[in-house]
Amino acid sequence: MKELKVGLLGLGQIGSGVYQILRSKSSLIRLRSGVSLKLVKIAEKNSARVRQVKPKGVQVVSDAMDVIRDPNINVVIELIGGIHPAKEFILAALRAGKDVVTANKALLAEEGREIFAEANRLKRNVYFEASVGGGIPVIKAIREALIANRITSVQSIINGTTNYILTKMSEEHLEFDRALKLAQQKGYAEANPTLDIEGIDAAHKISILASLVFGGWTPFKRVHVSGMSKIRSEDIAFAKEFGYVIKLLAVAKSEHGKVELRVEPTLLPKGHILSNVHGSFNAVLMKGDEVGDLLLYGRGAGSFPTGSAVVSDLVDLAKLRANGNHQVVFPSLKLLNVRPVSTVLSRYYLRVLVVDRPGVLSKIAAILGRCKVSISDVIQRERRVGSVVPVILLTHGTLGESIRRAVQMINQLLVTKGKVQVIRIEGES
Ligand code: HSE
Repeated sequence: MKELKVGLLGLGQIGSGVYQILRSKSSLIRLRSGVSLKLVKIAEKNSARVRQVKPKGVQVVSDAMDVIRDPNINVVIELIGGIHPAKEFILAALRAGKDVVTANKALLAEEGREIFAEANRLKRNVYFEASVGGGIPVIKAIREALIANRITSVQSIINGTTNYILTKMSEEHLEFDRALKLAQQKGYAEANPTLDIEGIDAAHKISILASLVFGGWTPFKRVHVSGMSKIRSEDIAFAKEFGYVIKLLAVAKSEHGKVELRVEPTLLPKGHILSNVHGSFNAVLMKGDEVGDLLLYGRGAGSFPTGSAVVSDLVDLAKLRANGNHQVVFPSLKLLNVRPVSTVLSRYYLRVLVVDRPGVLSKIAAILGRCKVSISDVIQRERRVGSVVPVILLTHGTLGESIRRAVQMINQLLVTKGKVQVIRIEGES
């Protein structure tokens, strides 16, 4: 029987899920995998959390180093989140001869290159299934099931909070602030909701996926990120009129050795498979050259889905350790060549607030024409002579740089009020 002695850092949302799963599922896991997982020590500073979970049959300490230095422990699970001191704890655990399991996407995306280099040097393992897509086994799918594929594209909804907010705004016609409050009440949002709302959490996750699928390391700072707080419920309503929904889409594509990486609110045709991912659910749509299109869908957050991913890593590590093995996850840590979004060809949705009088549209059309942006649709629903109305324009495929120049010029027109709302359209050309 392969036995793994486990130490856990952090008894928060995910930590408590891992504790419960290990308690209730140990015999099932033993039966299904031949692996015995034994949680021997938990480090948690916050005594209120300890009182709430009341761990049984396991020692609870307040100092993480007490777990990391324990010679009895084979694997340390890091679930405290954030960059520091999580990074120092992981490095200390590796140097103490332990393998590590983590759900910490921010740390892996921003500092993972150093962590994996150190793990490779020490011939130790860092597993991270829970860092992307909660309970969805996307990392295992890429590393194992899709190994025979060159993956050329990943389109994903990998932030449950923003997907919940956009769904509420769309279905219940709520404004952003109200929908955010609901998401926080449900416990979906990160401690600091800015990470979710401004797209950073999704950027961390797509950066990890891109490093895995494209065989190199993604320089996180090169991910083009735009948050969803700029989306108004009227954008959702106008998009609907044209047959689209708005999603915070995280995309990674590779072409001619260059990688396109972006997280931003995006219009998707309502028939697109990702348009039907609602609420806090996540989905990852990949294109492999052998398998074709593949969709993974499930719960992207929460104690038990994410805990389930952590426990699957433990079983993998128990098997690896039994063979005395180290497995290289990233064979190359060379930085990937990222393409500027200004060179990407896309269709766009523009919402321009203008004074309602003759000749205004022709001024906007003239600028678009000069910047080589071709218009495919225009609507002006309201009529308020002399006052301000929204005009919506959809474009044909155009370069990011052309749309940027055009929007800058439209923003400067005297008849334009406020800034033009610009949203990319994905899923058709
Ligand atoms: N805050 C994340 C989300 C869950 O809303 O999807 C953890 O990754």
